[in-house]
Amino acid sequence: MAATTIPSVNLKGCEKAMPVLSMGTASYPPAGLEATKAAVLEAIKVGYRHFDTAFAYGSEKPVGEAIAEALRLGLIQSRDELFITTKLWNLQLDYVDLYLIHWPIRLTEMVSKTPVAREIVRPLDVKGAWAAMEECKKLGLTKAIGVSNFATKTIQEILSSATIPPAVNQVELNPLWRQEKLKEFCKEKGIHITAYSPLGANNTKWGDNRIVDNEVLADIAKSRGKTTAQVST
Ligand SMILES: NC(=O)c1ccc[n+]([C@@H]2O[C@H](COP(=O)([O-])OP(=O)(O)OC[C@H]3O[C@@H](n4cnc5c(N)ncnc54)[C@H](OP(=O)(O)O)[C@@H]3O)[C@@H](O)[C@H]2O)c1
Repeated sequence: MAATTIPSVNLKGCEKAMPVLSMGTASYPPAGLEATKAAVLEAIKVGYRHFDTAFAYGSEKPVGEAIAEALRLGLIQSRDELFITTKLWNLQLDYVDLYLIHWPIRLTEMVSKTPVAREIVRPLDVKGAWAAMEECKKLGLTKAIGVSNFATKTIQEILSSATIPPAVNQVELNPLWRQEKLKEFCKEKGIHITAYSPLGANNTKWGDNRIVDNEVLADIAKSRGKTTAQVST
């Protein structure tokens, strides 16, 4: 398949543009290291340049290995050609492009998988956590910092003391979960919204098929000569 060029967007305070279409690397049940590595490598071949990973997905290692392999194969000339979003350090890269606070919560013990037990969830020290994120950017460990699954109130709390505002808020967003107020708020503050589970996380434990089976979306897709998945993302 011929490689495709994906448009990019500029993030506030980030010198590197972010490709708007990212390949997610969470899978339920986990796809396994080799399958994830092969999928990422294949995605680089067809033109993906942005990958979304996280410690909790167990996909940081295969993403890192796929990048090393892509460099070896000459699919990319430099790691700089890729935009890597993650939600905790473990990638064996010199830097990541976008580092997010995965959830606005604190856990009383270390767990590496979701879902987590309710009993170990506590409120996050939002300002303290954000100060540490700012330090990561100042140290050059990431080109941009942001949040994920944050509501307007918690973002306001960050903005009240931040010296570097969040560049991105990655949230669940799709045609049936439109988050209009949050989108308006983030737009006003110059925070880019990234959608996750754009297809309603069909085939997963918590998602359903209401988007992929939606008749209105199917009609819109048909009238444009696209698939439902294409008009939903
Ligand atoms: N920040 C966060 O808290 C957070 C939370 C969840 C997800 N994410 C990120 O967002 C990414 C995507 O989210 P997601 O996987 O939850 O949900 P999603 O993209 O809404 O749905 C993924 C499902 O869509 C199916 N699919 C793929 N292409 C399709 C097509 N053309 N037509 C119909 N179905 C199609 C896949 O099926 P198959 O399984 O058959 O391939 C997969 O099961 C994740 O990989 C992760 O990187 C972030």
